[in-house]
Amino acid sequence: MVNLPPSSTRIIPDTASIPRHIAIIMDGNGRWAKQRFLPRVAGHQRGVEALREVVKACRELGVKYLTVFAFSSENWRRPAEEVTFLMSLFMKMLEREAVKLHENNIRLKIIGDRSRFDDKLNQTMREAEQLTANNSALTLTVAANYGGRWDVMQAVSAMLRDHPHLAQTFTEEDLQSYLSMSDAPEPDLFIRTGGEQRISNFMLWQLAYTELYFTGTLWPAFDRNELDKAIAWYQQRERRFGRTSEQLEAQQSAGRGNA
Ligand code: IPE
Ligand code: IPE
Ligand code: MG
Repeated sequence: MVNLPPSSTRIIPDTASIPRHIAIIMDGNGRWAKQRFLPRVAGHQRGVEALREVVKACRELGVKYLTVFAFSSENWRRPAEEVTFLMSLFMKMLEREAVKLHENNIRLKIIGDRSRFDDKLNQTMREAEQLTANNSALTLTVAANYGGRWDVMQAVSAMLRDHPHLAQTFTEEDLQSYLSMSDAPEPDLFIRTGGEQRISNFMLWQLAYTELYFTGTLWPAFDRNELDKAIAWYQQRERRFGRTSEQLEAQQSAGRGNA
């Protein structure tokens, strides 16, 4: 496993630089379509194009991890035909994009409960992950049938299966390696498009100290310029992780970023 700090709350990242990890809730596809008198699924289709542009921009900017919410564990509640469309769009995207991601040295990872996906989709997901497994420019993680609570629960179960003695007492570090995003630093910047100001069961554990950016822009309209705006906003934040501003200033003038 890559030896990254388990928690970004220990090390203060330099906000002047590009965020290492950006997590996005790509929301507003349905409303984007509705505004244009199109079916909701047309919004999902355009959403894939927006994702393509954001992946390219992150790769160019030097973002190391991009994690996007594609389908939540709650999205099964949608009309059956929309769910079916989203599954086939996901399948097509994997088939079409895996090679392009590979050519661009991008690693693709999928997180979430795969047990509800059919065998063919599971196989396509595995193949895309295997093809890109050794790429290093950017890790694109797609959260599909993912829920933050599911993630914590599956991590606890897996940890106790491996180490039954931990049932009495365990630490955050014990749990850490069983969480879906264990090989990535926690997100520095979270973006939610579409105007809602909620987490909707996205990375509950990992977002503990992430800077949260909300924009009314609907996902299909989110482009490079919108991403630049979000990053510029992030770069104005002061990340304190519980400390005071004065402590941070003292550390900076002493030439030490971390404590
Ligand atoms: C997000 O867009 C995409 C998915 C949840 C798959 P929505 O489909 O939620 O779009 P709105 O929120 O209805 O506009
Ligand atoms: C969150 O969007 C999930 C994804 C973007 C995949 P939703 O549109 O499903 O969120 P809620 O239900 O409005 O909170
Ligand atoms: Mg929505």
